[in-house]
Amino acid sequence: MLEIKHAQKTFFRGTPNERAALNDLSLTLDGGEFLTVIGSNGAGKSTLFNAITGGFILDGGSIVLNGDDVTWLPPHRRALVIGYIFQNPARGTAPNMTIEENLALAYSRGKKWPLRKGVSKEDRSFFREHLARFEMGLEDRMKDTVGLLSGGQRQALAMLMSTIARPRLLLLDEHTAALDPAAAQKIMRITDEIVKEQKLATMMITHNIRQALDFGTRTIMLDDGKIAFDLRGEERKNMTPSRLMEHYSHLRVM
Ligand SMILES: Nc1ncnc2c1ncn2[C@@H]1O[C@H](COP(=O)(O)OP(=O)(O)OP(=O)(O)O)[C@@H](O)[C@H]1O
Ligand SMILES: [Mg+2]
Repeated sequence: MLEIKHAQKTFFRGTPNERAALNDLSLTLDGGEFLTVIGSNGAGKSTLFNAITGGFILDGGSIVLNGDDVTWLPPHRRALVIGYIFQNPARGTAPNMTIEENLALAYSRGKKWPLRKGVSKEDRSFFREHLARFEMGLEDRMKDTVGLLSGGQRQALAMLMSTIARPRLLLLDEHTAALDPAAAQKIMRITDEIVKEQKLATMMITHNIRQALDFGTRTIMLDDGKIAFDLRGEERKNMTPSRLMEHYSHLRVM
C-alpha cells in the first residue's frame, strides 16, 4: 500500500539551522494496517506526512503509494487516494460553505464531473445518514455554514469529508488533540469504526501514549527523523504506556 525507502529531507541545508527532518527513513505499510506514530516535538512526524502527500519533494529516497511511484508527483496527483485530517479543525473544512456543500465537494473528488450544480436528493440523504452517526445533530443542520460549528463538530465533518470518497490511505495528524475529552473520545471511536469498515490503511500521529497503544495494529516512534522502534504483535500487546516511555528514555541515552 505504502512503501517509503530511504527518505531524506534536510531543511535549511548549508546554514547554521540545517536540520535533517527525515533521516534515511524507510517504512512499509500494508493495506488495512493502522499505524500509530509517536515521538517528541520536532521528531519529524508531520514532515513524514508532508512527504507522503507531496508537500515537498524528497532530497533522496522514494515513495510508492497504492502501487504508483509518487516520489516526483505534485500533491494534487496524490490527493485522490489520501484522506488527511489536521490538528486544527478549521483546516479541513471550508467555513463559508454549508455542511452539505462541504460534503458534496469532498464526495465528488475523483468523479468524472466533479462540479455538478447543487446537491442531489440522493446525496443529501446519504450525507444525512453518515452525519447522524456522530450524534451531534449535524444531520439537521446541513444548510448551516460550517464557520458556525464548534471545533468538535467541524472535526466530525472533516472526518467524514476525508473518508467519504473512499481514500486508500488515511493520515491523521493529532486530529483529536484540540478537542475536549468527550468530543475527542467520540471522534476517536468513530475513526476506529470507519478505518475497520473501509479496511483503510491509516497512520495516526498522537502525543497520547495510551491512545497510541489502544488504537491501531502497530506503533512506531520517530526520533530525529528516524524510526527509533516499531512495535507490533505480542510485543505491542504486552506494552504499557510507562514501559514504552522507559523504552524511549533508554534509547535516547544510548
Ligand atoms: N517547511 C519547513 N521548513 C523548515 N523546517 C521545517 C519545515 N517543516 C518541518 N521543519 C523542521 O523539521 C523538523 C521536524 O518537524 P515536524 O513538524 O515534522 O515535527 P513533529 O514531529 O511533527 O513535531 P510536533 O510534535 O511538534 O508536531 C523540525 O525541526 C521543524 O522545524
Ligand atoms: Mg507535527
